[in-house]
Amino acid sequence: MKRLLLTSALPYANGHIHIGHLVEYTQTDIFARYWRMTGRRCVYLCADDTHGTAIMIRARQEGRSEADVIADMSAAHQRDFAAFQIRFDHYGSTNSPANRALCEEIWASLRERGRVTTKEVTQLFDPEEGMFLADRFVKGTCPKCAAPDQYGDSCDRCGSTYAATDLVEPRSALTGARPEVRSAQHLMVAIEPERPFLTTWTQGEGRMPKEIANYLAGHFLSEPLRDWDVSRPAPYFGFEIPDAPGNYWYVWFDAPIGYMAASKEWCDRQGEAFDDWWRSEETEIVHVIGKDIVYFHTLFWPAMLRSARFTLPSRVQVHGFLTVNGEKMSKSKGTFVLASTYLKHLDPAYLRYYYASKLSSKVDDIDLNLEELVNKVNAELVNKVVNLASRSSRFVAQAGLSAAYPDDGGLFAAAAAEAEAIGAAYAGFDYARATRIIVSLADRANEYVDRMQPWALAKQPDKKAEVQAVCTVALNLFRQIVIYLAPVLPKLAEDVGRLLGCPMDRWELAKTPLVGTPVAAYEHLMKRVDPGAVEKMIAESRPADEAGAQGGAAAQGG
Ligand code: MSP
Ligand code: ZN
Repeated sequence: MKRLLLTSALPYANGHIHIGHLVEYTQTDIFARYWRMTGRRCVYLCADDTHGTAIMIRARQEGRSEADVIADMSAAHQRDFAAFQIRFDHYGSTNSPANRALCEEIWASLRERGRVTTKEVTQLFDPEEGMFLADRFVKGTCPKCAAPDQYGDSCDRCGSTYAATDLVEPRSALTGARPEVRSAQHLMVAIEPERPFLTTWTQGEGRMPKEIANYLAGHFLSEPLRDWDVSRPAPYFGFEIPDAPGNYWYVWFDAPIGYMAASKEWCDRQGEAFDDWWRSEETEIVHVIGKDIVYFHTLFWPAMLRSARFTLPSRVQVHGFLTVNGEKMSKSKGTFVLASTYLKHLDPAYLRYYYASKLSSKVDDIDLNLEELVNKVNAELVNKVVNLASRSSRFVAQAGLSAAYPDDGGLFAAAAAEAEAIGAAYAGFDYARATRIIVSLADRANEYVDRMQPWALAKQPDKKAEVQAVCTVALNLFRQIVIYLAPVLPKLAEDVGRLLGCPMDRWELAKTPLVGTPVAAYEHLMKRVDPGAVEKMIAESRPADEAGAQGGAAAQGG
């Protein structure tokens, strides 16, 4: 099997990780962990996406350097990811020497192929701040429906999209100043020459979810592709374009190259050859992204890779957006929950499990229903899975597991036979299916324990061997389930590994029962979800006052 180079989108350095982001990083981490368990070589890479206007403005507002701002944010991101057991092989930054070098390399090849042109671009300019304004830093009245206070790219009320220069009564969102219309030379990359290639590539079998491939074919690839504006005039926080001084690469130019830069740093540390990962038929590149950043990954990015002769991604896995209790995450409702706030109240395993149970390979939005989270985790993980161990391990704490695996009526063998179906579900990003099969195995194991009643047998002194046999079966069925769940719940797998004194980190371990080994004293594996803790988390996420609400709003990506 080919090596796997796996990425999640690079989170913006101008905001903290929230439970919406965690859909993606959990989804990718489960994929990485599954493949590692099968023995396939898999490298999971990510980095902070550090450039752009938003960071520059934040730094100005905070009176610090951009380098300071992004260093703090990178540390915070990595702390949150680690707490949610998202394990990257390397976590980089787009503001790195490796990224600059790769940007220059790709730029040179675009130039060489004659793909770079220039164009006069008119933009709004904030005379007080002395900078061009990105669309989201301009507010004004919608030119179509006259709704006040709309952003420079689209209207919240009527949904129409327009240029910031079309806004009626525009104002700078930074200073409130009336922006001037100014123009500057921008550098553009022609994408149209790659349209035949992109048409074939996007429609490739398994390349991306069908609905995305169809959408691209119907809406973009059926007509000439417009040139892509990849430069921004100073002042801009980013890399200066070597052959166009005073101009910087637009953040979305250097961001995907950050995938490669993270690979380069990882390769240098590991003594691996970069070209084995980015110029090799032996490597499969898989990007996991949200539906809002599809064009960058399915049009611009493959076009850039191709012109510089790098390996094209095998798959772009696209997920939908998170809603909470059926609505968009909302600061005022307290459902815009930061990862760090969640961690103060709840076990990350709950969210990992819940997301896994909801995620499929489809692009549909996924809803976090908080009541369902409580019920699902308590009913499935605590009552069905963890209870298997708590109900049986103490009866064998002294004797350990039987020396030979007892007759269980074929239960273990039947569950072992599911390894393939569960594995295929993980490999196909259909974690909802994987968890459904696993829960059905837990149901069967519980039926067995209910029928055999080890606690009743344990009261009869002459049934010692039977107790041991029944608990050996129960704990083996439990262990199998926990191995299957290990990509989702790595911490549970580690804890169970300690309880049973056995490794849990390889997929094939689920095929062979564990016998003749001691069992450690049972320690609590997972607490029930306390609905009160969920309420506290929501309460803490709600802005205390108007100022709080605005401080929070600045944390959104952009
Ligand atoms: N920096 C860009 C990605 C550059 S990749 C070369 C970016 N950053 S982001 O922080 O806004 O988002 C990172 C990822 O999280 C994206 O794939 C995005 O779709 C995903 N999500 C952010 N908010 C989300 C939800 N509310 N729900 C689900 N995923 C969301 O985009
Ligand atoms: Zn409107």
